Formats: sequence, C-alpha cells, structure tokens
Amino acid sequence: MAEGKGFGKTILFGEHFVVYGLPGIASGIGNATTATVEKADKFEFVDNRPETPGYKEKKAGEIGRQIESLLAQFDIDKEKNPIKIVLEGNLKCNSGVGSSAALAASISRALNEFQNLGMNIEQINKATYIAEEAGAGTASGIDNTCSVYGGFLTFEKNLQGEPNKIETLTVSKPIEIVLATTGITQETKVVVGDVRAKKEADEKWFEKVSSDYKEMYGKALEAIKKEDWTTVGEQMDVNQELLRQITVSCDEIEEIVKTAKQAGAFGAKLTGTGRGGYVLLLTPGKELQEKVAKAVEEIGYETLKTEIGASK
Ligand code: MEV
Repeated sequence: MAEGKGFGKTILFGEHFVVYGLPGIASGIGNATTATVEKADKFEFVDNRPETPGYKEKKAGEIGRQIESLLAQFDIDKEKNPIKIVLEGNLKCNSGVGSSAALAASISRALNEFQNLGMNIEQINKATYIAEEAGAGTASGIDNTCSVYGGFLTFEKNLQGEPNKIETLTVSKPIEIVLATTGITQETKVVVGDVRAKKEADEKWFEKVSSDYKEMYGKALEAIKKEDWTTVGEQMDVNQELLRQITVSCDEIEEIVKTAKQAGAFGAKLTGTGRGGYVLLLTPGKELQEKVAKAVEEIGYETLKTEIGASK
C-alpha cells in the first residue's frame, strides 16, 4: 500500500496585504491529512477526514475535480487499473486551514509512491498546485507549498500575473500554537472586496497602513529567522492592530484575542479572511498552549492545539 501526507496551513502575517503585492508569511501546521492508495476491483474514494459539519458536501464538486486532475496527472485510468484512495488524518476539514491543499498533497505523494515515479518534492508541489487550480479555479501557491514542504514560507503575489515569489524558511523545531475558531464563516471574496473599496476611497490612508505593515513585516521576518518568539508575538499584535484598521476584525475575534493575551499568549491575531474564521494564538511550550486553549474554551470557543514550523 502506498502512503502520503499533506500538512494543513495557517497565515502568520499578511492576509489582505498580500492581495496588493505586499509580502506575507505562512506556515504548515502539525495537523495533516494522510492518503493511502492500493489496487482495487473498482475505483473507490473513501474520505474519512474529520470535518466541520457540511464541509465535504459543500466542497464535493471541488474535491471531485481535484481527484480527476490527480488521476490524469499520475496516469491512472479508473476503468483499466482501478485503485482505492482512502483519506484520513488529524486535520479537521474547515475553511482557512488548507484542507484542500492537504488532500492534493497527500494523494500526490501516495500516487508517486504507487506508480514508482521517484518524483522530487518540487514535482510533488507542482502536481499539488495543478490539482488545487483544477479544484478551486485559481491558487496562489501558498497553500500547496505549505502543505507539501511544511515549515514557514514567505510569499509575494506577482501583480503582473507572473509566478508568485515563494521562499521556504526552516526553523530548528516546531512551535506550539492554538487556533481558535469563532464559528463564523465569511466569504473571502466579499471581505477582500470591502477592503478594496475602502482602499480606493482613501488611497492615502491605505498607503500609511501599508507602510506600517511593511515595517512590521521586516521585524517579524528577522524574528522568525532568529526564532525569537517574543518579538514574533509582539509583531502579531501589531499586525492585528493593522487588521483592525482595515476593518476585518470583529467582536468574537477581539474577545478571543483579549482572553488569550490575558492567559499569556505571546501574540494573537486573526488568520485568513477575518470578520470570523480563525484566530492564531502563539503559545510556545505545551504548558502555555494548554493554558491559553483552556481559557479560550471557557469563554465558549473551539480550539485546535497544533504547531507551526512542522516539516516532518
Ligand atoms: C485569505 O485566506 C487570505 C486573503 O489575503 C485573501 C487572499 O490572499 O487571496 C484575505
């Protein structure tokens, strides 16, 4: 039986700002999807991944297109040489944690082994990207790269339509985080559209926020390279303030941020689209992670305790 794995992801710095060509930082998380592939009498796809209710149903079309793309890329004819693909793992499918890239990465790896192709990590990443594009229509490259490589990466969108700039960044050991979910789902397109309208209504204001962001980004990147998590946390708080200014925070996010900071989180900010979704809490060490997660759960929010920087 052939096996493969794909990490989930979280954005550490730069959501919304990356849309305008500013750099961002993302990371693979410790939670992952695993795929197994074996010969079968007829083609079968079994999706045993844990999910937020309704996720798989909502994404059925997208998942189907990803599978078709992967079968085509790995030269599998469903009728002539049927296989069984089984997905499992501890990454709960939800918007904002890179579930679809983890699906494609894990299956790419398993099919590479199944077909004895000996592809390198770069080629696996390419196959994952193509499947992501087939599923969702467009893909920035952040999710598949986080999912295949794990670890941290810096990301810069090319506004001229050329390939985006992505560089991987490794740290000596993974760092504990808590991802708290507000339970609110927002459409990325709508929130991004809103921010764009505000920017267009007052370019001077947006230039000032962007310049503050760039300054913060430089400090954050240096701090990650030095594995100085106190400074990384401080810069996350600065990033959260900038996200407030562009109006993508909300009461639930603020409540989680406040509680987490009081419980000792090094940094706390929304991650992804905002106005709901996830809040990223930096909590180095198992003890602090436990304490912060408990405090957030006590005020009624679900949490995922995981790590950033994981690459195994
Ligand atoms: C959403 O996960 C991140 C945004 O920056 C949108 C995007 O980059 O496409 C809000």
